[in-house]
Amino acid sequence: MTEPPHESKRILLSAIDVLPLYIATLDGEGNICAANLAWRNHKDPYSLFGNHCLENASYLKLCTSSKKYIPESFVIARALNQILQLQRHDFHMEYRYIHNQTSRWFSLKAALCQEENDFKVVVMHEEITARKKAEQALQETNIELAIQRDNALNASQAKSEFVANMSHELRTPLNAIIGYSELMLEEAEEKNNAAAIPDLQKVFSAGKQLLSIINDILDLSKIEAGKMELLVESFSVDSLVEVVVSMIKPLAEEKGNSLHIEISGNLGTIDADVKRVKQILLNLLSNACKFTEKGVIRLRVTREEKDGKDWVFFYVEDSGIGISKEQMSRLFRNFSQADAYITGQYGGTGLGLALSRKFSQMMKGDISLDSTLGKGSTFIVKLPAIAKTSLNNDTSVIQRFEET
Ligand SMILES: Nc1ncnc2c1ncn2[C@@H]1O[C@H](COP(=O)(O)OP(=O)(O)OP(=O)(O)O)[C@@H](O)[C@H]1O
Ligand SMILES: [Mg+2]
Repeated sequence: MTEPPHESKRILLSAIDVLPLYIATLDGEGNICAANLAWRNHKDPYSLFGNHCLENASYLKLCTSSKKYIPESFVIARALNQILQLQRHDFHMEYRYIHNQTSRWFSLKAALCQEENDFKVVVMHEEITARKKAEQALQETNIELAIQRDNALNASQAKSEFVANMSHELRTPLNAIIGYSELMLEEAEEKNNAAAIPDLQKVFSAGKQLLSIINDILDLSKIEAGKMELLVESFSVDSLVEVVVSMIKPLAEEKGNSLHIEISGNLGTIDADVKRVKQILLNLLSNACKFTEKGVIRLRVTREEKDGKDWVFFYVEDSGIGISKEQMSRLFRNFSQADAYITGQYGGTGLGLALSRKFSQMMKGDISLDSTLGKGSTFIVKLPAIAKTSLNNDTSVIQRFEET
């Protein structure tokens, strides 16, 4: 059932009375004609609403005289005057009211209400101090967080630079140790100095191991500092596989593992950073050798088209200890190994997989894993065969892709 028009108007007017807003209408001269209950009951003589306004002839004059308490009062008076002159239809602003050294915030909306030749201006004030305080607190928190983030970034940058410098300082003497121990080993072998050979071999291989750890840490710090650059060039996948296999064969044999290579179809060339692809494959294959004993290690390489793109897939399979579902989620994190038993039993730093995945992703590819505890694992490296930007025929023209 709908109310008669005069009845619904009455209800609307009482609704306006109970609103937590201060509402009044001005006539064409800018004088108050009516005000809601909240406005009429308000007693603060310095605010822009309240019973004191009703005694003033001109609301505009009242606005301009409030400068002491309301810094924006001139802007308000000017905007209201423009509405009264029919130069604008409405106006909205948030203003401060400063009294007794406390600051409160109000929202002011004014709009023209026109009926045939007659018009009124509706003026509405609403207190928004709570919202403003919350906004201010949020802003302060954001600034605080930004400062903390900048400090953390600076500290991380400083740490990465320190690690990079330290790695360089460590590598120089280490290279000397490796070089001289290799020389001495050759000499000892030539002179059949059997007593010295095992010790020199230990110095040489420990030096190489240490160098590889330092290189991994240097790579990680470069990636974290956003300074890792890849050199992308076109190279033959077969040739790379050949080099990697010759390097990994002795390692596979050390633990009685058989190494199988399966290359399906014509693999052709790939546009990637050859040094990093080699590093990824060596990491995965050396893991397979490390975690498999008297088993089978297989490197399968295919070229496949997926989602309209040409990909090269490297499958590194082993029949070793395998990885549980729970362990899998941790493996690709920096310095993370499956569990404490692995750390104690097999050593290692837990950087190989983290770095391999980062490099694969920088080349717009990825690494995935399929494994069953106790049965073996398959790590799958997927790399785009063709870099997005076409390579120049001259392979000496190298594209530099910064970390994205
Ligand atoms: N083929 C695999 N079989 C079983 N577990 C594996 C295999 N490859 C990796 N893992 C697990 O993943 C962990 C992380 O491997 P990652 O290569 O990152 O480190 P790591 O081999 O322990 O040390 P690093 O490679 O730095 O010398 C390993 O410690 C191991 O627990
Ligand atoms: Mg490893």
